[in-house]
Amino acid sequence: MNRPKVLVTREVFQETLDTLARHFDVADNQSDRILNPEELACALADKDGALTVLTDRIDAPLLERCPRLKAVCNIAVGYNNIDLKTCRARGVMATNTPGVLDDSTADFTWALILATARRVTEAEAWLRAGQWRGWKLKQFLGTDVHHATLGILGMGRIGQAVARRARGFDMTVLYHNTRRLSAEVEKSCRAAYVSMDELLARADILILHMPYSPATHHIVDATRLARMKPGALLINAARGGVVDDAALIDALKRGAIAGAGLDVFENEPVLNPEFLKLTNVVLTPHIASSSETTRRNMALLAAENLVAALTTGKPPNLLNL
Ligand code: DGY
Repeated sequence: MNRPKVLVTREVFQETLDTLARHFDVADNQSDRILNPEELACALADKDGALTVLTDRIDAPLLERCPRLKAVCNIAVGYNNIDLKTCRARGVMATNTPGVLDDSTADFTWALILATARRVTEAEAWLRAGQWRGWKLKQFLGTDVHHATLGILGMGRIGQAVARRARGFDMTVLYHNTRRLSAEVEKSCRAAYVSMDELLARADILILHMPYSPATHHIVDATRLARMKPGALLINAARGGVVDDAALIDALKRGAIAGAGLDVFENEPVLNPEFLKLTNVVLTPHIASSSETTRRNMALLAAENLVAALTTGKPPNLLNL
């Protein structure tokens, strides 16, 4: 009997490929060159399944050209690169990797919070450039994180993991979410639910942890940035597009907010060049979940989803159908 054929669109770990190879004929792309839409369509034309990442656009024109495709398994918790509606209409299962990256992403959010508040990357760049002439009382004065008010916009698993870590800094934790959490979860996170306006007005550090969708596009725009405190920091480890980057740059330039820590951007990997000119922003290349263990677990979970999808029709992390 012919084994199902699958494509792994980008470089993965050897155990990811081994897991798939036990069940399928696997075409890989260990060279990691990003396939353009035409190449992706050609590579997927005769495949039953795909292991994808967020740089792959799985949209209607592509799906039209992949008549055999039954499953698209994303190595990410976010899935805004996949047109779920068209997948559903065509009977294509789509999956993501929830849970396995919560703690690493929460840890990294704290790295961004601390680096931004205490100007770590700015100070290091200055030191490396040979500028340090000795200790100075007013050198790189930053913002205290301890006892500050942390505002969390988007209180899913990752937002909650960030909130739990705030305890060590004796912070006041406020959150806003489409759905208010149960009293039990609020208690375990020591977090209080407030309106969006109150969150913006009270947060010293505002962090974003919501998925990207048409509903969250530019949810932090010029109007909302203007409602933040002048000394506030904005941290985004969610998705590019939830923040209006041009409006943020303007706010940072005017000192309307004090700083930002950003792991994600609109139009990644192309950054608005104005970001690079600012010293009050910490910039990282979409690595919040990138600990070795977590990235291995994400890839493995996606592979397990693909195996389950094509062998039982019941992948554990099914998003549609
Ligand atoms: C995710 O899982 O959505 C992350 O952004 C991938 O790095």
